[in-house]
Amino acid sequence: MRTRRSALAAIAGAASLALTLTACGQSGEGGSKEKTGDVKGATIGIAMPTKSSERWINDGKNVVKDLEAKGYKTKLVYGEDDPEQQVSQIENLITQGVKGLVIAAIDNKSLNSVLQQAADAHIPVISYDRLILGTENVDYYASFDNEKVGTLQGQYIVDRLGLGKGKKGPFNIELFAGSNDDNNTKYFFGGAMKVLQPYIDSKQLVVKSGQTKLTQVTTLRWDGTTAQKRMEDILTSSYRSGRVDAVLSPYDGISIGILSALKSDGYGSGSKPLPVITGQDAELASVKSIISGQQTQTVYKDLRKLAEVAASMMDDSLKGKKPEVNDTKTYDNGTKVVPAYLLQPVSVDKSNYRQVLVDGGYYTEADLK
Ligand code: GAL
Repeated sequence: MRTRRSALAAIAGAASLALTLTACGQSGEGGSKEKTGDVKGATIGIAMPTKSSERWINDGKNVVKDLEAKGYKTKLVYGEDDPEQQVSQIENLITQGVKGLVIAAIDNKSLNSVLQQAADAHIPVISYDRLILGTENVDYYASFDNEKVGTLQGQYIVDRLGLGKGKKGPFNIELFAGSNDDNNTKYFFGGAMKVLQPYIDSKQLVVKSGQTKLTQVTTLRWDGTTAQKRMEDILTSSYRSGRVDAVLSPYDGISIGILSALKSDGYGSGSKPLPVITGQDAELASVKSIISGQQTQTVYKDLRKLAEVAASMMDDSLKGKKPEVNDTKTYDNGTKVVPAYLLQPVSVDKSNYRQVLVDGGYYTEADLK
């Protein structure tokens, strides 16, 4: 069994040899050199988790555009949030002879055996946004500072409620987290709870449902309808009296589901104002919701930059260059620490969406109408 390191070394060798060799065929056992050939014009497989969220559609388009600008061909697949489908899609990409893989995992523990096939075929793997766990066969990780995403959400709630600025509370808060099979979930929740826990301990923040552990608050596959249902159940069981003042939501799709539950319960009209509600991804529906005073905040992650990082990591890997990384300790996948390039997230609300999202060219004013 070849290790990832030797596979990459082989690719590096192949890339430089390609300068002097004519293109080689794909046939036969061959060494890595014959298999890798000239990387120019090679096809890169991109496996994204779902089309049900706008962000991943944009991620797919962005990675395709950036790889094509570097002279690669691309094959882009979406796994419809079904881990088994994603595994078979990646198997197919390998069979079709892709020379590299960019993967945003659905279930980040389900890819070990298919990534062994990738390693055996000397295919470098970039873990995109979500870290792939439990395998040495992942070369680089392109993502954001995920703990900071959670910190921005938690801090936003504290600031917005006025805690730490004279207001003592108590305020009622409910907590939501992302999918338990996504490695990012624990970073987002951990980052938020670092800020919120001291206020929960001092009883300035009260979780009336009593659901405060990560295992109690996750939302399988980040599904908005699942979150809506959980919020409805909480409102019924724990808010016969009193009202919700804040909701920690890790992601815009979940925030929209939570908002539906709240609005059906009479929030946003009369004496029940909507709570402070966070989010992530600056998806169009959520930015519009922020502008109209419903969702309160989102965490913006510039997906254009993420795609650029991933495309450069792939290009460098295939050409035998060392990709630029800025974190070599945080992301231990259980088998190794995966070298990462982490981008910075930005908190966005009604007060700065224009400056960050419109002036930054992410959306036009017309998009937000
Ligand atoms: C996470 C990602 C978030 C959000 C979520 C749901 O892995 O980091 O930005 O998109 O998935 O899609």
